[in-house]
Amino acid sequence: MKTLKDLNIDGKRVFIRCDFNVPKDEFGNITDDRRIRSALQTIRYCIDRDCKIILASHYERPEPGKYEDKYSLVPVAKRLHTLLKIKRDISMAQDVVGEDAKAKAASMEAGDVLLLENLRYEVGETENDPVFAEQLADFADIYINDAFGACHRKHASIDAITKFFDADHKAAGFLMSKEVNFFTKVLENPVRPFVAVVGGSKVSGKLQALTNLLNKVDKVIIGGGMAFTFLKALGYEVGNSMVEDDLLDEAKDIMTKAKELGVKFYLPVDVVAAAEFSENTTVKFLPIQEIPVGWMGLDIGPASSRLFREALNDAQTIIWNGPMGVYEMDRYSKGSLAMSNNIAQTHATTIVGGGDTADVTQRAGDAEEMTFVSTGGGASLKLIEGIALPGLEALK
Ligand code: 3PG
Ligand code: MG
Repeated sequence: MKTLKDLNIDGKRVFIRCDFNVPKDEFGNITDDRRIRSALQTIRYCIDRDCKIILASHYERPEPGKYEDKYSLVPVAKRLHTLLKIKRDISMAQDVVGEDAKAKAASMEAGDVLLLENLRYEVGETENDPVFAEQLADFADIYINDAFGACHRKHASIDAITKFFDADHKAAGFLMSKEVNFFTKVLENPVRPFVAVVGGSKVSGKLQALTNLLNKVDKVIIGGGMAFTFLKALGYEVGNSMVEDDLLDEAKDIMTKAKELGVKFYLPVDVVAAAEFSENTTVKFLPIQEIPVGWMGLDIGPASSRLFREALNDAQTIIWNGPMGVYEMDRYSKGSLAMSNNIAQTHATTIVGGGDTADVTQRAGDAEEMTFVSTGGGASLKLIEGIALPGLEALK
């Protein structure tokens, strides 16, 4: 893989696509800045070579065309400034490819850093629109993709933009190359038993990943919101828990395939249930057989944590992607924290992936115990599945 080291970037205008989609708490504070810290090496390398650095990232999923403050990258610019320890301010554009961004880019000097606003404020980003991509490309002479966490998205700043740079003017950043090299090495020959722990709420995105993972792993442990789709598919009453009804058949197929392949498949056996999606309400610890109508499971219960710990006991390689519950609310964070502790205590090679999952290990004080904490969630799953990543393909 070509990295920015292979390019002549001295004094040039460099566009760096980052993934600054960091988790924030209810007050808007950044709770885990790993994705920002991980981008520093690439940015510093460019500063030291007197480049003019234009940074771009998406942040969550705003409605395109609507500039809502809660999706702004302003807090990221501040954190980046603190972490970079440079005197000069990082300049923050008020738009993506509009007047303000253009004016600020035009007045940059060597070593300056400019952060564009949330790429997804513009509808062209997710639509991979070539016109929008060209507007982005106009900012720079060099294109660097360091957004490992987003390289599974075929979006304008990841795919279409690369058409406007020839082979000598585009490459991967240091974070991207580190992540890809790590996963490739581990997956060449994983030491077994190889266990995948999958949770989180993006159910639809992950079912396909699970299907593919079954060919690689020896055990699968499911937690988080996605567990309820499987439990319902098995015929359990799951109350108002999060379920994707249109995916019940697919969930069933996955369990059948697991059985056929001899992959051990674990689901939660109990939950922390509540009558509403809130911390300030009565909660009950219940076996999954007993979720009352109208109630919802918001975390895995203590019996599931113990069961999962047993299942992890003999693991030699573990990949973990997605929290076990609504960990952002303290009350529903215990299952995720316990999972982090359980994984950290094994003697396996442990790989944690995804912004939220990394956040959990950080909160649990386990981040240093893990073999590798990846900045990519969906992206690392795709890599493990052996699926070509649009962001990597586009750089070829
Ligand atoms: C992530 O947090 O998983 C990445 O930043 C990608 O975000 P997305 O799932 O909204 O595309
Ligand atoms: Mg995420």
